[in-house]
Amino acid sequence: MTRLSGITPSGRVHVGNYLGALRRWAREGAAEDLYFVSDMHAMTTAYNPQRLRALSKEMLAVLIGSGINPRSVFVQSDIATQLSTLTWVLECTCTFGEVSRMTQFKEKSTGAKTIRLGLLTYPVLMASDILLPGADEVPVGDDQAQHVELARALARRFNTTYGEAFVVPKAVMPKVGARIRDLASPDRKMAKSTRDEAGVVFVLDEPDMIRRKFRRAVTDTADRVEYRPEHQPGVANLLEILGACTGQSPKKAAEGIGSYRVLKETVADAVIEELRDVRKRTQDLLADPAGLDRIRATGAERAAQRGAHRLASVLRLAGIG
Ligand code: TYM
Repeated sequence: MTRLSGITPSGRVHVGNYLGALRRWAREGAAEDLYFVSDMHAMTTAYNPQRLRALSKEMLAVLIGSGINPRSVFVQSDIATQLSTLTWVLECTCTFGEVSRMTQFKEKSTGAKTIRLGLLTYPVLMASDILLPGADEVPVGDDQAQHVELARALARRFNTTYGEAFVVPKAVMPKVGARIRDLASPDRKMAKSTRDEAGVVFVLDEPDMIRRKFRRAVTDTADRVEYRPEHQPGVANLLEILGACTGQSPKKAAEGIGSYRVLKETVADAVIEELRDVRKRTQDLLADPAGLDRIRATGAERAAQRGAHRLASVLRLAGIG
């Protein structure tokens, strides 16, 4: 059984990514799993190449720093040739209607002056990521579930049209921490690319900074620490983060906390504690660029080997190559 998932270096890794994704990959992952930095996905909107390279490197270090087996990690563009080839085949398996219906595409393209074609076709590249190595399970937050659905549909369609080549994958989602919200605007999810960083807690933030961000978290005027996501989204978000750190349900995490002030300090303490070792390990890795490069090269080799056989049969079945 292979699990596979990715994270896009469109900004720095935040606590939503960590609790919703990285920590689970580390805890539940097995040696044959694959977790990667999807740097090619960061090109769908305007970006700075130098920054992308630096963020990819940092993200690779954070993956390992989070406890993911170094043998399971790689950088997407290191197998760009295989992925781009498969993406073309899958683009010719996918319809325009399917990609234009994607919620994330609609969100990101609405109101945009220009829309890169890659923003539209990005879920097809994501399908290649998943289908190339034959992943069985794809752990993702609920924001990515629709993209995994598309990968399933494309796998099935190719298999029935041209012949069995793909494993039909399934998305697996965490119950708690599936959607951590922005501390300053609890109406939206915490996102790497958010311009105003006040509500985004980064994994590599200093403890003081983390505490400051939690102290300023938007709540409401009730001063009632209860888990009522519909009515108190800010408080519910803090309880979800706390619960994810302490291994409790958000409802249970609320017990015994008498005020928002205490809640904020308690969450800040829990997050700082949770991230302490991750930060230390990541910093150690970044301090040894040659070591990190070696891990990256080994990962690229393994990922390429995993995909080579399947890509060859896909091309044969599709009547090319
Ligand atoms: P990305 O980089 O947006 O997010 C990486 C992972 O973090 C989860 N996540 C969150 N979880 C909880 N709360 C949040 N606020 C939050 N924000 C993000 C995401 O659900 C995800 O699991 N397209 C993908 C990367 C990707 C991929 C793949 C994933 C590329 N190829 C193949 C799976 C399989 C993305 O941009 O994730």
